[in-house]
Amino acid sequence: MKKFFITTPIYYVNDKPHIGHTYTTVAADVLARFYRENNETFFLTGTDEHGTKVCKSAKEQEKEVKKFCDEVAQSYQKTWKALDINYDFFVRTTDKYHEEFVKLILTHLKDNGFLYEGEYEGLYCEGCEEFKAEKDLVNGCCSIHKTYPVKLKEKVWFFKLSEFQDKVLESIGKNFKILPKSRETELVSFLKKEKLHDVAISRPRDRVEWGIELPWNNDQVIYVWIDALFNYLSGPLSSRGFNFNNKHWEDIVEALNDFWPAEIQLIGKDILRFHAVIWPALLLALELPLPKRLFVHGFFTINGEKISKSLGNAINPIDLKKKFGLSALRYYLFRDFSFGEDGDVSLKNLVERYNADLADNIGNLVSRSLTLVKKYGELKQKIEFKKDAELEKLFKDLKFKEVLERINFLAKEKNQLIDKEKPWSLIKEAHQGKEFAIENESQQKFEKILGGTLETLKTISYYLIPFLPHEGEKINQAINNLKSEIVFPKIEADNFKNN
Ligand code: MSP
Repeated sequence: MKKFFITTPIYYVNDKPHIGHTYTTVAADVLARFYRENNETFFLTGTDEHGTKVCKSAKEQEKEVKKFCDEVAQSYQKTWKALDINYDFFVRTTDKYHEEFVKLILTHLKDNGFLYEGEYEGLYCEGCEEFKAEKDLVNGCCSIHKTYPVKLKEKVWFFKLSEFQDKVLESIGKNFKILPKSRETELVSFLKKEKLHDVAISRPRDRVEWGIELPWNNDQVIYVWIDALFNYLSGPLSSRGFNFNNKHWEDIVEALNDFWPAEIQLIGKDILRFHAVIWPALLLALELPLPKRLFVHGFFTINGEKISKSLGNAINPIDLKKKFGLSALRYYLFRDFSFGEDGDVSLKNLVERYNADLADNIGNLVSRSLTLVKKYGELKQKIEFKKDAELEKLFKDLKFKEVLERINFLAKEKNQLIDKEKPWSLIKEAHQGKEFAIENESQQKFEKILGGTLETLKTISYYLIPFLPHEGEKINQAINNLKSEIVFPKIEADNFKNN
């Protein structure tokens, strides 16, 4: 059966997981949890472990490179586990399986005439692991890393990217959607204006020692981005132990068919061109379909500053969890920022948001309504779960902020109804009058208010579960057992005074 395939970028192991990486990965987890309800879903993440900067970082720490990669890859896995990220497979580009798959793909591309040998002369930013044009620079520096790129003049192999300019352009917005729409417009205008040049797919081994060898030339190492992009295909094949030795290309295409094309590929805006130009061109050359949706999210700053290793301001998500709890973290990332736009992380806002929405609104509704029902006795009406058409649509459009806004709106409406109708006063009336008689108006009113509230809470818990799996389920169970719970204890202000 065809899987609903969701991917994150794979993270460079030169850096420890921080809140930026966390954002993309939790987003993929939220989507995967939502889709798993109705679809066979496959959620892939992993680590990008080759290239110059990974090798440099290992050496700085005086570690053997593979050992260093193992450690950082493990710290990613540990972090994702701590954050309740339920991926289906974790791909590592130094895994033998991935390396062999990439070699096989490049051999196929070469056999079909898409690769040729030539000389690359130009600039390279090691921070981005990217070939740069003069016009991409600001005062001669990389605009992201603020460092001078290295000048290269080297013999390499190229991929005929220039042949795919029109084909990529034709696919965008049709079988290959880039979201939000503004990113699609940006890309289309780039492709209409700029002529694409062929792209190097390898670098000399004496310049880059840490990478996969070109299968037909062991003096060349595959360019880290080309190696990395193929994780989206090697990962799922590897997860099911597909053995591609002695297999024909058609067998591989058939095996890929079970999950490819991806339904949603999530990326940050920094890596849009790799995913919206080079990646689709490679797929077109391989005659594979393009991903259905490429969703591009914005970038976080922390208290107005770029997150960077040198500034030392990268927030470790496990520390945040320890301090404020996982639900505060997972909730805040999607409630305060429109998915797709940039955002500035502030721990003060994180706490305020948790307290206002989860403790005071949704949590309060759970505990007060169930306390009232308990006092009253038992509801006659069965609490049914109803899907909410608007929430379904918002989820499918990856409008996470709007999903959480609506959930809060629904809870707020019920809190206001309870404030207005004061159902606690109805209990007394119900008991004073003809006890529990069906014709008793107060009793019917009580049942209507509280039954309706619990139904709304069932809906809320269903759509909250992808964001907050434990608390969402706790609400659901509390309703099933008609047992009042404090699901979201308030965070005391003292906890964030120094942030
Ligand atoms: N290894 C490449 C991706 C290869 S995918 C075939 C890479 N890795 S990265 O570790 O530098 O960053 C990966 C992703 O992390 C970014 O695209 C983005 O999704 C996320 N983020 C990293 N820093 C971020 C912020 N400050 N804010 C939000 N997301 C950020 O690029």
